[in-house]
Amino acid sequence: MTVAVATAIADVRSRIAAARRSGKTIGFVPTMGALHEGHASLIREARSATGFVVVSIFVNPAQFGPSEDLSRYPRPLEADLALCSSCGADLAFVPSVEMIYPPGFRTYVEVTGLQDVLEGSSRPGHFRGVATVVLKLFNMVQPDFAWFGQKDGQQVRIIQQLVRDLDLPVEIRVGSTVRERDGLALSSRNQYLDAAQRQAAPMLAQALEAARKQALAGERRAAVLLKTMTEIISRAPGSKVDYVAVVDADTLQPLDTLAGKAMLALAVRFGSTRLIDNILVDVNDR
Ligand code: PAJ
Repeated sequence: MTVAVATAIADVRSRIAAARRSGKTIGFVPTMGALHEGHASLIREARSATGFVVVSIFVNPAQFGPSEDLSRYPRPLEADLALCSSCGADLAFVPSVEMIYPPGFRTYVEVTGLQDVLEGSSRPGHFRGVATVVLKLFNMVQPDFAWFGQKDGQQVRIIQQLVRDLDLPVEIRVGSTVRERDGLALSSRNQYLDAAQRQAAPMLAQALEAARKQALAGERRAAVLLKTMTEIISRAPGSKVDYVAVVDADTLQPLDTLAGKAMLALAVRFGSTRLIDNILVDVNDR
């Protein structure tokens, strides 16, 4: 089946209302397009769990900083729609920037505290843009369930908080990070890497995995895990660490000593390409 495409909000609403009338639950996967197997896994999960699957494709200007890659962000719409079709999505919602942010737009959402650390400290305003567009998309689609990837672990935590704090009637589902065979987390930005950078990039996942093993083997000192990760990344030619962090999975605040659930997270630059990755570790799982 070919996915239906809607650009107008009224069209989206009427198609979703029709699905609801026929008793279907609504599953939603928000994306910025340039879809890959990571997105596909979320769409397939939505397909198997809900009756009507909506995928939004919108490169959200509000979450890009002035010196970031908004204009060069890939927009392969035909291929994206083909992927939506092959994963069984029912509706692709492809709004324009003018529709989402019409002239005179003034309202933004902030998830204080959680938005300012990690990615937020390197990318001021990023999560304000994410939270705002996700709330708008939730209001348009009104899904029962929405899927987000652990690949963007801080984003997941922020959306969960947004839903809780604003009483949004949607259940958030988290899909695990899809990786290349060599461990590199799939990302639309991987295509910017040259051959040497691509060869070095799996060190990020190796660093996270090594630190997780250490934690599960009993190491509780965050400083030791940070050193392990930093050392491994330093072996990746051309890499420049933006941050490496061991934080509480709930508060996203740095930990000195691991207890309960932690997130190991990093952002590393290869030239002008910035890659992020993270992994959860629960020391009670030992
Ligand atoms: P985008 O980067 O396109 O990602 C869309 C969804 O796919 C996010 O939930 C992201 O975590 C998930 N995803 C990306 N790579 C993944 C991988 N390798 N494995 C599993 N899931 C992966 O995240 C955004 O868009 C935007 O911030 C958005 C939420 C759409 C708001 O604009």
